[in-house]
Amino acid sequence: MNTIRPRRNRKNSAIRQMVEETHLGAQHLIYPLFLKDGKGIKDEVASLPNNFRWSLDLLLPEIEACLNLGISTFDIFPAVDEALKDQIASYSYASDNFYLNAIHQIKQRFPEAVIMTDVAMDPYSSDGHDGLVQDGRILNDETLPILAKMTLAQAQAGADIIGPSDMMDGRVGYLRQALDDEGFTDVSIMSYTAKYASAFYGPFRDALNSAPKMGDKKTYQMNPANKREALLEAQLDFEEGADMLMVKPALCYLDVISLLKENFPLPITAYNVSGECAMVYAAAQNGWLDYQRAVSEMLLSMRRAGADGILTYFAKDFAQFLRC
Ligand code: PBG
Repeated sequence: MNTIRPRRNRKNSAIRQMVEETHLGAQHLIYPLFLKDGKGIKDEVASLPNNFRWSLDLLLPEIEACLNLGISTFDIFPAVDEALKDQIASYSYASDNFYLNAIHQIKQRFPEAVIMTDVAMDPYSSDGHDGLVQDGRILNDETLPILAKMTLAQAQAGADIIGPSDMMDGRVGYLRQALDDEGFTDVSIMSYTAKYASAFYGPFRDALNSAPKMGDKKTYQMNPANKREALLEAQLDFEEGADMLMVKPALCYLDVISLLKENFPLPITAYNVSGECAMVYAAAQNGWLDYQRAVSEMLLSMRRAGADGILTYFAKDFAQFLRC
């Protein structure tokens, strides 16, 4: 028998911990949260158990609890009333927008919290698309000024990081320019760089009631069959001034995370999307999986693939596991 016995490095917990290659802590996690206008609202998302549409008054103590668990970064998404949606997503930059107002209040209350906002038209669009729709087509260049207005309104409200999730061509450079022209040189861009047209966004669209009213998102989101194309998207976002590159979803795209990590000198983030988390919640509720072990293994796989940060609905639960 060979004298090399890898099991010696696994023989007890101290040695296993000493040689552990990948680390995962609360500092790596970004917690997506859904915000709704009103008071006293904590409305569970049916297809994403354990996740809620919060009104600001109840979201503030939730953020405080997460900060106390070591989670410092939050990605906040608005659930907008149907009546406020229109074709040009004008509510996204309206001065009385509850989301913008909430970002401002969260930053006032917790200046140390890092607040990320989402840039795309879908939560505010009567068409349910990330870009402007005309005659059934999603227009690219005409969408950019709308995204820029939204971005500036979010920066004005106090966002630390903006997350363009729309996949229009050229938007990172366009938004960087718009931010810089207005003096927001410190606002970061975490670009949704390789965002795939995925079946795993269902629960998120339920949470925001933001599903496309017609067609699908395949003319702007990437084809799940493509990997080299992620290099092209990453190259463009890099050249246009993105600060961090995101791969989304995470679990079916670990190879893409690893590819971007090896080829670009920017932090890579992974979005462990709603459908990926919903599968685990459902299996755990049925007693088919051990929730804590499954969550830990999933998140670790994303870190091992090369993700620096992970956006995940498991953030709070995972931070709690670390405490026990
Ligand atoms: C939309 C957006 C989506 C998600 C984040 N921003 C959905 C979509 O593209 O339809 C999905 C996140 C998730 O599923 O958790 N701009």
